[in-house]
Amino acid sequence: MIFDTHAHYDDGRFDEDREKVLERIRKAGVRHFVNVASDLASVDTTLKLAEIHEGAYAALGIIPGECGDLREEDIIAIGEKIESSEKVVAVGEIGLDYYWEDNPPKEVQKKWFLRQLDLARQTGKPVIIHSRDAAADTLELMKAEDAGKIGGVIHCFSYSAEIAAEYVKMGFFLGIGGVLTFKNAKKTVEVVRKSPLENLVLETDCPYLAPTPHRGERNSSELLTFVAEAIADIKGVTVEEVYERTYENALRLYGIEEKI
Ligand code: NI
Repeated sequence: MIFDTHAHYDDGRFDEDREKVLERIRKAGVRHFVNVASDLASVDTTLKLAEIHEGAYAALGIIPGECGDLREEDIIAIGEKIESSEKVVAVGEIGLDYYWEDNPPKEVQKKWFLRQLDLARQTGKPVIIHSRDAAADTLELMKAEDAGKIGGVIHCFSYSAEIAAEYVKMGFFLGIGGVLTFKNAKKTVEVVRKSPLENLVLETDCPYLAPTPHRGERNSSELLTFVAEAIADIKGVTVEEVYERTYENALRLYGIEEKI
């Protein structure tokens, strides 16, 4: 059984064959996935997708790059949507992204990151953190906010093994996806090698970040086999063990109690 902890199946790139893809991944053993919102429009499409598909869950939140025009009433509305459905398991994706300089400005990003950490606290949900080229500020802010008490996952973990260890100490999970299979993935390989398997979860970020040998193509959850194989290699365990352990980790991460 496979758990994809981070997907965007509401993305326009799945408009032509979404139901077929979701059927295919189910047959490939993907029992659950969390569809993750990134802007206001995708808060609604994510919620709807989770409501109509068994095995699908939702994370609602606004990504740093889309925070420029955000208003307090938007956050209040997201809070109401989080409370409205048992399918919502997290606040996300939220965080800091300094890749596009000043877009929006750092202070604006920090303001809405803090506000959405509050939202997670209020609703009792874990967070999905998007952090790119912002290692120091993200860690500093999360420590200051005692984010370990909120819990969650650092999605598409792209920093050093040392920083990974800091998050593991805080009880966070590390989201590992297609990047691990890329040629230049030395840093991520090191993160997987040094971090406990108990803290790793599988994620696609589909339609983005398809693993080698499908790099550049549209990603989907059945391609997680390439990521799981890479983790198994690095950790010296079987692929089945990787699936099993990361599946259990994902249930713990999102507080999902499975009826067997
Ligand atoms: Ni994403």
